[in-house]
Amino acid sequence: MTRYGVILVTLTDSNPKPASTPVSLGGVRGGPKVKTLRKGAWWLPQLASGVGLFLFVVYATWTAFRNGHYYVGNGRDYLSPFYSPCLTSSCVNTSNHVFNWWKLSPALLILIFPGGFRATCYYYRKAYYRSFWFSPPACGVTEPHKKYSGETKFPLILNNIHRYFWYFAVVFAGILTYDAVLAFRFSGGIGIGLGTLIFIINAVLIWLYTLSCHACRHLCGGHTNTFSKAPVRYWFWKKISVINPHHMLFAWLSLVWIGFTDFYVYLVAMGTIHDPKFF
Ligand code: FES
Repeated sequence: MTRYGVILVTLTDSNPKPASTPVSLGGVRGGPKVKTLRKGAWWLPQLASGVGLFLFVVYATWTAFRNGHYYVGNGRDYLSPFYSPCLTSSCVNTSNHVFNWWKLSPALLILIFPGGFRATCYYYRKAYYRSFWFSPPACGVTEPHKKYSGETKFPLILNNIHRYFWYFAVVFAGILTYDAVLAFRFSGGIGIGLGTLIFIINAVLIWLYTLSCHACRHLCGGHTNTFSKAPVRYWFWKKISVINPHHMLFAWLSLVWIGFTDFYVYLVAMGTIHDPKFF
């Protein structure tokens, strides 16, 4: 008899009728209905993130096709982050028309990169897999799909290009930082208005989201077995590791704030509200 067998016998002897708990966490794949032993509102985060992502996609679609009121001039220099950098002939704030052949909304040209970065983000993948595809709905909950191929087939295999989108994301974070600097420009010189603060917060949140990326952390600390031989990378890896656990928070904050920044520019450009200048 093994050591564990002795323990089992001992427990059984002292508890003649031990309570038994049927273990059926998650049930079977392709089950007819949700089955779980989880208590509480396990579905609430999925519902909240699903609603949030849906609303943002609706707003972003409207903004991308709006093709107007995305720039505030006349003593201000605010460009909506959905339209930055503005490269086409339809832009109103620049003479640097690189893509003059593009006749549609310039946002449609720009959003491929930040949109691709967000769509392939590890966090957002988890969110939309759970909220929209129920694959799975949550940990320990029945998987409704009969088959599972992970991210090994088209189209989900495309999510593996996330690490390459990261390089574009760094460029865009730099551009949005430049836009935040331009937001200090006023007709009489430099100053700070409400829009300036909104643009600064937007740039900070974009950097936090971009640098807390899991691919960024791997870029800094991966591919090495001996940190003592790569002190610079180790330094960056330690710094990134501080913000990386909060990536989900930065993903949401930056998402909401980029929409808010665009809406603020839209309202000021429309003349609906006035942009107050503090000094
Ligand atoms: S994992 Fe979310 S941006 Fe890279």
